[in-house]
Amino acid sequence: MVQNPAIADIDLVSMDFWDRPEKERLADFARLREVGAPVFFPEPRIPFVRRGQGFYALVRHADVVAASRDAKTFSSEPAATSPEPPAWLSMLLGTPMVNMDDPRHARLRRIVSRAFSPKMLSKIESDIQATATRIVDDVIAEGPRDFVEQVAARLPINVICSMMGIPERIRPYVLKRIDVMTEYSGVRGALTSRRALRLLGGNLRAIMDLHRLLARLARERRERPTDDLVSALVNANVDGERLTTRELGSFFDLLLVAGNETTRNALAHGLRLLTENPAQRELLLEDFEGRIGGAIEEIVRYSSPIIQFRRTVTRDCELNGHPLRAGDKVVLFYLAANHDPEVFPDPESFDITRKPNPHVGFGGPGPHLCLGANLARMELRIMFRELFSRLPELRTVGEPVPLLSSFDNGVKSQPFTFSRPS
Ligand code: HEM
Repeated sequence: MVQNPAIADIDLVSMDFWDRPEKERLADFARLREVGAPVFFPEPRIPFVRRGQGFYALVRHADVVAASRDAKTFSSEPAATSPEPPAWLSMLLGTPMVNMDDPRHARLRRIVSRAFSPKMLSKIESDIQATATRIVDDVIAEGPRDFVEQVAARLPINVICSMMGIPERIRPYVLKRIDVMTEYSGVRGALTSRRALRLLGGNLRAIMDLHRLLARLARERRERPTDDLVSALVNANVDGERLTTRELGSFFDLLLVAGNETTRNALAHGLRLLTENPAQRELLLEDFEGRIGGAIEEIVRYSSPIIQFRRTVTRDCELNGHPLRAGDKVVLFYLAANHDPEVFPDPESFDITRKPNPHVGFGGPGPHLCLGANLARMELRIMFRELFSRLPELRTVGEPVPLLSSFDNGVKSQPFTFSRPS
């Protein structure tokens, strides 16, 4: 329970908080920002599942930026995700680079960043376009039901799987397992021990299934390399060493989750925000090529598909004047920072012409800034162009069903409508 009576009713650890409408949560984040100093939230310990130490919530843009910049003081080890996984889990599954500091992190990032260079991205642009065209063909043939299932979930999984060389026929299997892996992500700590353990069992089974699949793919690519990302990674020689199978597995988990959920949720939030703000939608459609860049940044700012990441303080220090001790945990709430009126005038208005728009939706400035940001931007641009050019009447209808999570600002389903082109 928080000590300050003005905000004693806010509990960022409880599932009830994340189950509330987004408007109410944003209002609570505004109250937390007004406190000024980061507020501490204790976390209960759950045997085998979480350590239960608690964290300071960083909700001001300036604090999130400062902590992201100073990665030596604000470490991503032992884990940048919340709740912090127990040590045995990392031993079992390996450590993804998002949970590493330099130089280990830089070493991995150097190898994989080649796959995200402008040259590589321009190579896959036509692939993304072909997938977007196929998705819209199918939607027109099937008629509108659920935008997430029919559109938003289909593009990113196909893009990331084709980068990795995962054959089309097993992609639905992969997608199912990613959904299980991320179920209740971020709020497991608020569940009862028994429920948390049951979920963890399901999550682990899904991860192990994916690791087995990827190990098989890695063996095949070692023997017969192609031009995909798996071939590049299994054959990469890093400082004289090869990546271990566990390192590979954990990197693939990261890519599958980071490259899939985020973009899918940005697409779903994007269509809803453009529907709820008809003047902005008109502005975009008047000059799609000129305004889509600004629209994507505003969708990412406003919706913040990744709500938060965590850091551990490595030395006694001050963060913008607030004292912190070595060992303290801080959680960087990107969603709250992206609605900070100190930086974004009228933050609750969705404005695709907002300039500047220094949002932290892809992370703050620092070594962990999203590796896939330009890929995500390209996917969003191509998908929205294909949708609006062929289905200009496309709109969401009714309310989305949100994912219960403090990590992914996820959309489980979103009804939509359009008139068939004549
Ligand atoms: C709208 C879409 C996306 C959003 C909002 C998003 C958000 C983020 C955020 C907030 C981080 C920072 C992590 C930290 O500070 O610790 C991050 C890191 C990362 N993202 Fe993204 N992401 C998106 C799309 C993608 C895509 C498409 C990929 C890959 C296919 C990707 C791969 C990664 C990776 C590998 C990291 C870890 C980077 C590192 O630790 O050096 N992301 N992302």
